[in-house]
Amino acid sequence: MNVLVTGGSGYIGSHTCIQLLAAGFNPIIVDNLCNSKKAVLKRIKQVSGSTPTFIQADVRDKAALVAALSEHNIEAVIHFAGLKAVGESVEKPLEYYDNNVNGTLVLVDAMREAGVKRLIFSSSATVYGDPASVPITEDFPTSATNPYGRSKLMVEECLTDFQKANSDWSITLLRYFNPVGSHPSGELGEDPQGIPNNLMPFVAQVAVGRREFVSVFGNDYPTKDGTGVRDYIHVMDLADGHIAALQKVGPKPGLHIYNLGTGNGHSVLEMIAAFEKAAHRPIPFKFVDRRPGDIAECWADPSKAQTELGWRASHTLDAMVNDSWRWQSTNPQGYSDQ
Ligand code: NAD
Ligand code: UD1
Repeated sequence: MNVLVTGGSGYIGSHTCIQLLAAGFNPIIVDNLCNSKKAVLKRIKQVSGSTPTFIQADVRDKAALVAALSEHNIEAVIHFAGLKAVGESVEKPLEYYDNNVNGTLVLVDAMREAGVKRLIFSSSATVYGDPASVPITEDFPTSATNPYGRSKLMVEECLTDFQKANSDWSITLLRYFNPVGSHPSGELGEDPQGIPNNLMPFVAQVAVGRREFVSVFGNDYPTKDGTGVRDYIHVMDLADGHIAALQKVGPKPGLHIYNLGTGNGHSVLEMIAAFEKAAHRPIPFKFVDRRPGDIAECWADPSKAQTELGWRASHTLDAMVNDSWRWQSTNPQGYSDQ
């Protein structure tokens, strides 16, 4: 079965392509390369033996999408393409709404024209805002605290309305918690451009000597050790969540919403300690002020995905940091320009 993967050369998309190939699906990537490199295609080939078809196009280019959907007999779309840096979204809200919201509307319009009615959308735990309690179930109230989060929430709302009006469509919203780790081969991983916003790529770059120390944002949260607690999930588990959604939800009409998390919370200090063990070296850090907009604790109740999709995260914290270190230490500058 042919699956169009928007944003398929990015971090989560590339790992998902590998799992799609392993499960017998044929991924066709559409990506404009604004935050990824074509070099990832060679790595996918190295690991899986196949190179996915790659179409360099923007998801806001409807004609290119209709052509890709029709020419490749696409049956389902996994939509990863989007911008994801919270701080940048505050500076450039219009770009975020255009790319993430408008991009999704154009994609759905193209799917409608091409007669493709199955969509899996990359949403985020950010749609839960500052949750009243943990663990978080899918029926918790949603809210947004920044333009990035609002773009995800807006897309969820647009897709909900669209599915109501088009009851034969199958739309799945996957709310990711905190994706970390890399393919166990060390050939693929996260390759952030510029200074990483997220904790784990930052820690990895300190470990490899690209940066001096980790700034720990706040040590006075009401958590086990005062630092923020999150549900870190191995990117391979996350990738498998998409395969489970393709296989278990299938073409079943409806709006399907799932948390993809482990159900465990780890603090910033625990993550640094785990990485030190994996890299066999100390990772210097300094406590600094809280980052505006951060919440104390966030972790998933993943039981709905387990019951309905037969999916659960299986990688341990050690696997997440070991795989992340393998990638970072063998590719200290990411994919470079090969
Ligand atoms: P990424 O930046 O590595 O991948 C996104 C890909 O989309 C990139 O290859 C980029 O070039 C491409 N892209 C962006 N805008 C495009 C456009 N208009 N047209 C075509 N291609 C475009 O990010 P990722 O971490 O792999 O995230 C994938 C998705 O998951 C995003 O939608 C993101 O918001 C969502 N998500 C990510 C996280 C996370 O922590 N990584 C958490 C929750 C949700
Ligand atoms: C962030 C985004 C969220 C997005 C998610 C995945 C914010 C406010 N939230 O979530 O919208 O969906 O990434 O892309 O940006 N930390 C440090 N030092 C650092 C970096 C992070 O101490 O240099 C701490 C944070 O305070 C937090 C934890 O590490 O407690 C995880 O941070 P991060 O990786 O940025 O993810 P989130 O904040 O959960």
